[in-house]
Amino acid sequence: MILTVTPNPALDVTYHLDEVVWDGSNRVERISARAGGKGLNVARVLTALGIPATVLGPLGGRTGDGVREDLAQAGPRDATVPVTGETRRTTTVVDAAAGETTVFNEAGPELSAGEWAALCEAFDRLLPQAHAVALCGSLPPGVPTDAYADLVRRARDAGVPVLLDTSGPALHAGLAAGPDLVKPNADELREATGESDPARAVAALSAQLRAAGGDAVVASFGPEGLLAATAAGWWRARLPYAIQGNPTGAGDAGVAALLAGLTAGRPWPDRLAEAVAWSASAVAAPVAGSVDRTTYVTARAHVLVGAVEPPHGQRDPGAGTPGLNLRPGTAQRGGAAQAGEPAASLSTALRGKAPAEPSAPAPQTPEGNGHAAHGHR
Ligand SMILES: Nc1ncnc2c1ncn2[C@@H]1O[C@H](COP(=O)(O)OP(=O)(O)OP(=O)(O)O)[C@@H](O)[C@H]1O
Ligand SMILES: [Mg+2]
Repeated sequence: MILTVTPNPALDVTYHLDEVVWDGSNRVERISARAGGKGLNVARVLTALGIPATVLGPLGGRTGDGVREDLAQAGPRDATVPVTGETRRTTTVVDAAAGETTVFNEAGPELSAGEWAALCEAFDRLLPQAHAVALCGSLPPGVPTDAYADLVRRARDAGVPVLLDTSGPALHAGLAAGPDLVKPNADELREATGESDPARAVAALSAQLRAAGGDAVVASFGPEGLLAATAAGWWRARLPYAIQGNPTGAGDAGVAALLAGLTAGRPWPDRLAEAVAWSASAVAAPVAGSVDRTTYVTARAHVLVGAVEPPHGQRDPGAGTPGLNLRPGTAQRGGAAQAGEPAASLSTALRGKAPAEPSAPAPQTPEGNGHAAHGHR
């Protein structure tokens, strides 16, 4: 079982309108509501991958009941704990005419010290059954900034690998406890390191993480794919084409695939190829936490994975260790073992100059979801 923790879950409500008049009255054509929050998305995708997942987080009030009901349909095991405050809603307004999506994020209810302690106790009870843990998303008001650091230490003490996917002060504090894996996106990476060059930022975060006893940084760059700095080397993985759709939750699908690869003990290039393909399949699915299998199959066959060198002067701490391969590698289609094309250098790696792709399929436009927005980070 993989345990996902969502300290600040939400009911994601989407208003679909033909056209939005911002200073007038609007008729809402269709409303959809579903359990949201990053750990819930990860658990849904794990369920789709056939991997048992358990969801832990606080739920309260009628909105919390709505989240619980939807979760019951979705498949992951519900280990949520009741709290007094009303679970938050995120409201997304889709303007079909403008092709625009606008997201309103509520802060979430304040948790009391006792409520957070109850969640930590539930975490400790679930750890012995967990093969891996994912700590996902923002912390709710009332919970200390170093709450994730505490959960990372609890997981590590129990010998359970732990992935941290959050931002801002919660990421900064959580890093100090040395999670096995962190998965920042481009904004989170820049914010955490103050470094705008992607490769240098990954190197800086990797140095921080390794100093704290952690292992891998897998940074995601939207359509540009992933850059991974691990104790076993650096890799880059991407698709040679972009997919149109809804990128919210693409990173969560990647987290699910990384956890699946970790628990199966797959080599890093395979884990990254799977993460890129499942993330792509999430972009093609209309709502966060869903995947499109046809897109996965095509993407998996076209993923490019290559070993790359860390940026000059930013050598990985393990670079001097025999057996660690940090020399320029080879790009491998679909994560397969045969070598061939040269790897993209790091300076070009994130500017869309991946090794040439002879037969990339046309970008896909899934039906009814041409609205791109990043919501509820
Ligand atoms: N338009 C796209 N086409 C193909 N792949 C994409 C596209 N957008 C994202 N991806 C894939 O999804 C991965 C994660 O995307 P991104 O960096 O946006 O994550 P994120 O911001 O953490 O997402 P979220 O937190 O909303 O789940 C990327 O590394 C890439 O592999
Ligand atoms: Mg993310």
